[in-house]
Amino acid sequence: MYNCSLLKFININSKYGDLTPIEQMVDVPFDIKRIYYITKVPQGIERGFHAHRKLHQVLICLNGSVKIKVKNPKEESEFILDNASVGLYIGPYIWRQMCDFSEGAVLLVLASDYYNENDYIRNFDFYMQEAVKRY
Ligand code: TYD
Repeated sequence: MYNCSLLKFININSKYGDLTPIEQMVDVPFDIKRIYYITKVPQGIERGFHAHRKLHQVLICLNGSVKIKVKNPKEESEFILDNASVGLYIGPYIWRQMCDFSEGAVLLVLASDYYNENDYIRNFDFYMQEAVKRY
C-alpha cells in the first residue's frame, strides 16, 4: 500500500534471547526524533483515528499483539503486529486505527519529528478532503 509497508528487522537470536537493532536511515527511512510506547490498553479499546500531514512513523509490537487498520482515499489494509523484529512503516496522509490489543501488548512507535498537534488530522472528513488531492 502506498506510504505504508512492513519492515523486517534483523533478529539476533541466541540461547541468551533475541536482540533487534534499529538504526535511523538504515533500518527505518527517516531520522528518529521521538519514540513513545503504548501499554496497558484495556480490552476492546481502539486508538488512533487520525492521520499525520508530515510525520513518518514505524510501529513495532514488542510484546503481545495488536491489529493496525490503515487507509488512504484509494486503498485500505490491515496488519497484525505480533513480532518484535517487524515494524509497520506509516508515512504521511495515512488514516490509522489500532485495535485488538492483547493483554500485555506493548506498542513502540518511532517517529520522525517531535510531537506537534498541528500535524494531526483527527476528523475523517477533513482527512479525506486533504488526502484526496494527494492520491
Ligand atoms: P494520540 O497520538 O492521539 O494517541 P493514539 O493515536 O495512540 O490514540 O495521543 C494521545 C494523547 O497523548 C494526546 O492528548 C496527545 C498526547 N501525546 C503527546 O503529548 N506526545 C506524544 O508524543 C504523543 C504521541 C501523544
